[in-house]
This record gives sequence, C-alpha cells and structure tokens, in this order.
Amino acid sequence: MSRLVLFPSTAEVDNKGHLLIGGCDTVELAAEFGTPLYIFDEFSLRSRCTEFKQEFTQRYADTAVFYSAKAFINKALAQIIKEEGLGLEVVSGGELSIAHSAGFPMQKVYFHGNNKSAEELRLALEWGVGRIVVDNFQELNLLDELARERGNKPDVLLRLSPGVDPHTHRYIITGNLDSKFGVPMVHGEKALATTLSMPEINLRGLHFHIGSQIAELEPYQQAIEIFLNFAAEMKQKHGFEMEELDVGGGFAVQYDVDTPAPPISAYAQAMASSVINGCQKLGLAQPRLIIEPGRSVVGQAGVVLYTVGVVKDIPSVRRYVSVDGGMADNIRPALYGARHEAVLASKMAEKETEKVTIAGKFCESGDTLIENIMLPPVAAGDVLAVADCGAYCLSLASNYNASLKPAIVLVKEGKARLIRRRETFDDLTRCDLV
Ligand SMILES: Cc1ncc(COP(=O)(O)O)c(C=O)c1O
Repeated sequence: MSRLVLFPSTAEVDNKGHLLIGGCDTVELAAEFGTPLYIFDEFSLRSRCTEFKQEFTQRYADTAVFYSAKAFINKALAQIIKEEGLGLEVVSGGELSIAHSAGFPMQKVYFHGNNKSAEELRLALEWGVGRIVVDNFQELNLLDELARERGNKPDVLLRLSPGVDPHTHRYIITGNLDSKFGVPMVHGEKALATTLSMPEINLRGLHFHIGSQIAELEPYQQAIEIFLNFAAEMKQKHGFEMEELDVGGGFAVQYDVDTPAPPISAYAQAMASSVINGCQKLGLAQPRLIIEPGRSVVGQAGVVLYTVGVVKDIPSVRRYVSVDGGMADNIRPALYGARHEAVLASKMAEKETEKVTIAGKFCESGDTLIENIMLPPVAAGDVLAVADCGAYCLSLASNYNASLKPAIVLVKEGKARLIRRRETFDDLTRCDLV
C-alpha cells in the first residue's frame, strides 16, 4: 500500500490486515485509549534527531540542532529532545515553561518571538536562556532596560528578514519583506549598530527564518548569501564578528505519495556549502551554524486515529464520512487547505473502491479533513489513521465546540505509553469562575 510511505518508518501491516505503528496494532490502540488518539512513534522521532545531527555535522562540524517547539511540545517530547542532545527553540513564556518543567537545560533554549512581553523577557533572563533572539527595536530597548535592571548580560541574536521568497503557502512565509517577523534588512545596519552600542547586551550573531514546508534549496542559499554579505559589511564598518548564523527551520515533510520531500542531506549540503564558500569568498571566520527544524522532526512521526461515525450520501455529489475529530485537533486543512492522506487501519488489505470526503465533527462547513480520498468500503466504527499529523496539529488544537483535547501515546517496540491524558469535561470548566 503506497500511502504507507507517509506514515512513520515503523508502519507495517499485520496478517489481520491491521496497521501497526511502533509494533502496536493501531486498531487495538484505538480500543484501549479511545479516539481521537494521537500516536508518536519514538523510533522515528529519535531517528530524525540523529539524522539532522549527522547529516549537518558531517558537512559542517560546528552545527547545533534546535528543535522548534511550536511544531509540538509536551513534557515527554521535551525529554526525548533533551536525551537526543538537541537544543530547543521556543516562542512564548508557555513554551519556555514547558521546557523548564521538563528540566530542559536553559542554556540550550533559544527564545524567539515577534512580540515578547516584559514578563516573558524577565522570565527568560531569570532562567538564563542561551539566547534571546531579538526581533525589533522596541524589544531591543526593553531588553536593554531589563538587562540593566537585573545586572546580567544576555547573549542575543538579531533576527533580520532577508526579503526572500521560499515558494510556500503565504500563511507560512516569514522572511519576505512584508513580514511581521524580524527587522527588515534595510534597517539591519541600524539595528546591529544599536545593539553593539548597548554594553548590557552581547550580540553573538544573526538569525533568519524564511518560512515552513520549504521544498526548495535556493531560498536558503539566497538568504545565506544575503546574510554573509551583510556580516562582511558590518565587520568592516562596525567590527562585528558573527559567531553564530541561525538559519531557522522550514524543512519540508512528504505529505503526498507522489511528492517526496528533499532529504535532510540535500538541505545540509546546500547550506553547508553556501556558508563555507561564502565565508571563504568574503574572508569571514566560519560561524557556528544553528538550524531549527520543527515540522520535519515530528511531522511524519505522528499519526492520528479517528473512529468513523456517520456516513452520509449526497446523490451525484459525494459521500461524507464523519469522524470524531477534525478542525479542533487538526486545523491545517481548514487553515491552509493542507492535504493529508489516510488509511482505514482495520482494512489495510482491502481494495480502495470508494471515493469519500472525510468530514470533521465541528460546526463549520470548512471542517473537512480530507476531500476526495479513495478508501475501502467505509462503515461506522472503522478506525481511520491519518498520516503526517505530528506537526502543527496538536500545537494548534483548540477546544472548539467544547471538545476535549485528545490523548497522546508514544509507541515503541510493541508498547504504548500515555504521554498526555485525554481532557475531561472537568478540564473544560477548570478555569471558570462563577
Ligand atoms: C523562528 C522559527 N524557527 C523554526 C521554525 C520551525 O519551522 P518548521 O517547523 O517549518 O521547521 C519556525 C516556524 O515557523 C520559526 O518561526
């Protein structure tokens, strides 16, 4: 079954025609833990971490890999990321606090965000995060004030927006000229000179992040070239030494059978050679290279199981198959028109003879999970397994229609461990005051 390539690498079909992930029968997981159920395959998660480290350091020894928490984070995942020796990229006091509560080493946390509050910056200073990635002039002045108040000298990177088009969905472009993220390149020199003039702030390098699900290598190479030229000019004019170049994340994941994502080695090769050649040409010392993959670490490691409920035929139009989740746990199709693929976990050996549309259960017509997918004949009670749900599903989840956020299990070698319990009705009113 060709769609299996979109599932974690441990996915297989047993002799009952059931989908197994991490050696666990997904139909049994659905029965034991209920649905919607998010499954993370531990082997895939750890292998991706290793692959990123190896592919980059082989080509550029001084590379540090920071997992981007916004793709998905909880305490168990933070633990795995820590064990794999990666750093963590966070964008809010909330993500910072999850890292802290999981005992993540704060020196290995980089704090991003386009509108950090004074409270968040204070927390970052108090907990001693490795870098604060400054996004704008206001933040720079605020940080200077707070650093002076506290008497510590934070290490910072400056986020500049290179004005590069990464050819991805417009909602997930971040490094173009018209962007709320970072200082536009035209103000780059002013931002850098201002930072260098602040004795309480230690400028260690520069950062860009141009977008997500970027399947081309050229936009990264263009951005690196722009940044190295800028660094060379700033070295000459202001004596700036770029110790670190943080090129963000954005590495693509394979969401459809016919469009494989570039391998990590291809990104590593393109980025490493751009930095090495550029530095050589410009007479710059090679900076430490920071990468911040999110989607590509967790995306394919995550699968969601739903139970089929109502099947509704609209003659000559379509057959709607409604499942017990939808936009509240995975808003990607509704938000970006993202396409996921799925299989019937209990009917893997059957022929796909029916074209159906998978609908969510939430009160929006836009809550359609997958339009026009071929599946074996579907009936109420079947378990649908949707691929590529590890990234930007749970992290964007809501309680829309007062739904309960799903449980999450981590699977490995035939064992499943609950790493987040399903919410209960009590959780829905936990913060209410009467
Ligand atoms: C600063 C920064 N770094 C890293 C990432 C991770 O991107 P991705 O999940 O596409 O790898 C993001 C996501 O938007 C980001 O904003």
